Amino acid sequence: MSDIITMVAPVNIAVIKYWGKRNEELILPLNDSVSATLDTNVMCAKTSVCVSPNFLEDEIWLNGVKESFSNERMQNCLREIKVRATVEKSVDDVFLSWKIHVCSENNFPTAAGLASSAAGYACLVSALAKVYKIKSDVSSIARLGSGSACRSVYGGFVRWHSGVKIDGSDSIAVQIADKSHWPEMHALILVVGDTKKKISSTKGMRISTKTSDLFQYRIQNCVPKRTEDICEAILAKDFVKFGEITMKDSNQFHAICLDSYPPITYMNDISNKIIELIHKYNNFHGEIKVAYTFDAGPNACLYLLQNEVPKILPLIQHIFPSSNPDTFVTGLPTHCEMI
Ligand code: DP6
Repeated sequence: MSDIITMVAPVNIAVIKYWGKRNEELILPLNDSVSATLDTNVMCAKTSVCVSPNFLEDEIWLNGVKESFSNERMQNCLREIKVRATVEKSVDDVFLSWKIHVCSENNFPTAAGLASSAAGYACLVSALAKVYKIKSDVSSIARLGSGSACRSVYGGFVRWHSGVKIDGSDSIAVQIADKSHWPEMHALILVVGDTKKKISSTKGMRISTKTSDLFQYRIQNCVPKRTEDICEAILAKDFVKFGEITMKDSNQFHAICLDSYPPITYMNDISNKIIELIHKYNNFHGEIKVAYTFDAGPNACLYLLQNEVPKILPLIQHIFPSSNPDTFVTGLPTHCEMI
């Protein structure tokens, strides 16, 4: 039996959203995206993997429940890992024939739609890469599990280049700045709802790609400049510029969801109240102090500098007095690591 390898991988929350694929099977996006990776202390996936000649089949336990390993995306990741191991001659052929057992769990509510698949696949692939001693880039393998997972392989701020090659070999995640670059940057996660989303991201982006006119406009006219600008803002630690682009891109992504046919609604009344509150807060201060962004669900991620956290948090707790939304505060640093 191999050693048991255990890894943790963080959640990442995009500030330039990935929405739409040029190749569904290889999970190649139509646009570049940018994200920040959150601290594993607050939200992460933890995965242990080992292989053995005694295991009869590949098996996986997700949050304590045994699931089938026949899931196509998991199979694709494992296949690619083995192809790389063969090319890199990193392990013996007999080792490649052994079956694997995987045990994976999240330290945050999975159903809340908080990029759990991104952390989960980044973690699975990073653990497999350690077991099979893969040396090449693993973000492109994590991408085969879930597009956004490729960004969770790195810490700090990360850009996923859509790439242009048909085989997807240039569709990889690259770190823009590491975790030490902007230590004041924090994220506040507001869990508005923990029910499973009605339309998965995979299905939602398929509908938008086919039916939304605004979708084409965004890809051609907005994302390229926004991506360059937000990378510059990150490098210059320009929060005002970072915040404006983040909010505009989130709003445009949700506008595209509404422009899809049939329309897709991920946010709810509480999400909209959060947006209203943040704009009022920023107007009151005369500049952007807090930026919101929403993925394919009602939960908000607020990006803000550390000194704003004690100011906005009581306000949110006052305006939304029940435990809805629940709040998690987190710094940004971290990356997939072995524990
Ligand atoms: C709105 O990565 O979950 O969170 O590649 O089909 O698995 P698949 O989709 P997924 O989509 C994430 C969409 C998003 C935006 C983002 O994270 O960039």
